[in-house]
Amino acid sequence: MADKKATLSVNGKTIELPVYSGTAGPDVIDVRGLVQEGLFTYDPGFVSTAACESQITYIDGSKGILLHRGYPIEQLAEKSDYLEVCYLLIYGELPTAAQAEKFRNTVKNHTMVHEQLNHFFNGFRRDAHPMAIMCGVVGALSAFYHDTMDFSDELHREIAAFRLIAKMPTLAAMCYKYSMGQPFMYPRNDLDYASNFLYMMFATPCENYQVNPVLARAMDRIFTLHADHEQNASTSTVRLAGSSGANPFACIASGIAALWGPAHGGANEAVLNMLMEIGDEERIPEFIERAKDKNDPFRLMGFGHRVYKNFDPRAKVMKKTCDEVLSELGCADDPLFRIAMKLEQIALEDPYFAEKKLYPNVDFYSGIILRAAGIPVSMFTVIFAMARTIGWFSHWHEMVSGPYRIGRPRQLYTGHTSREYPQK
Ligand code: CMC
Repeated sequence: MADKKATLSVNGKTIELPVYSGTAGPDVIDVRGLVQEGLFTYDPGFVSTAACESQITYIDGSKGILLHRGYPIEQLAEKSDYLEVCYLLIYGELPTAAQAEKFRNTVKNHTMVHEQLNHFFNGFRRDAHPMAIMCGVVGALSAFYHDTMDFSDELHREIAAFRLIAKMPTLAAMCYKYSMGQPFMYPRNDLDYASNFLYMMFATPCENYQVNPVLARAMDRIFTLHADHEQNASTSTVRLAGSSGANPFACIASGIAALWGPAHGGANEAVLNMLMEIGDEERIPEFIERAKDKNDPFRLMGFGHRVYKNFDPRAKVMKKTCDEVLSELGCADDPLFRIAMKLEQIALEDPYFAEKKLYPNVDFYSGIILRAAGIPVSMFTVIFAMARTIGWFSHWHEMVSGPYRIGRPRQLYTGHTSREYPQK
């Protein structure tokens, strides 16, 4: 498959390296042979490193393109729904109507969690961060499905996917209910995926709860837009954990841990915290100046992206949904939303952000929608994790379906060389 070669001259020696072309995106230089030459490549943050071959998702950050199995995210958000996108990510093709129905029904058969899992929640403080609880309870799924799981078997992997897609909303809603001191609500399989999640979050056994269809549609969009995003930090974490042959539920828990940070999935929570800290439209210029100050660690949360150096295509769809939700719920006059909209406008007009190509990312708008839907800020990243679980699973599945090796990066060592233990 190498139709080109790169030549590297180092230490007076010339080394030829194969160059591969994908179906889209930059060519990659195969540096695997360098270890035989006593050389490593150095790329902290994996800025220029392709760690795997993949056929799931393609991003062109400079053009603002995101494709899942070739389909643009804007079209999927408009014409599809989250479960259909899950199917697409796992199997590589959109389902027929019959396949989609079978898939939805199978997912519904797995929405309940084992009753023993309820006891795990009692071990946590009521004020524990829900992402901490999610790391624990999703990891704990491996204790329920370990002996019965042979992930070299395609069918077992498929069942793991159904379990993950179906149980993540149940577990996420249980985190919220636990923090509120309210009883867990069992899933309602007569509802669609997003409505069932809202039901488990907000219904109580003592009152009738009607799901708002505009909110359910917005939730489904949030799930769809967060479903996968190529080899980001959490997906790479799942691949790395999976490369050792670890249980897939434990691997997903490692993805949840990686997602939690504010530079990654924690950004939607950080956006809301930042808006509350700004507190007043008049203070926006002060925060813009802080974001531009090299000596101030403050960054505008929800702005910028490692890959998108153009508008995040997910953010465009999310902004539209955000407008719909705010007008449906009549919150356009909420002071926090006004600050958000003003901040967006000022940052987009500021030359600093334009020069550095810092545009609002998906999390800038998703946090606003989630707040309007009455979801507490601490649950925002949990919702991201729920949605991204299918992306993590699909990458793990792709990896273990083919030949793979344990991930084992090298280092540029700059510590002490060998020295004698001092005499005592
Ligand atoms: N506010 C102010 N300046 C920024 C920001 C920001 N949000 N983001 C980047 N910059 C500046 C940064 O200071 C640097 O300036 P200089 O070239 O003068 O040193 C330049 O832009 C490039 O930044 P970087 O840190 O090299 O970019 P990166 O690709 O390593 O980081 C990022 C990407 C997303 C971590 C970063 O933009 C950021 O911290 N954004 C805020 C957090 C955020 O919203 N994260 C969610 C990402 S979308 C959800 C997801 O996919 O997980």
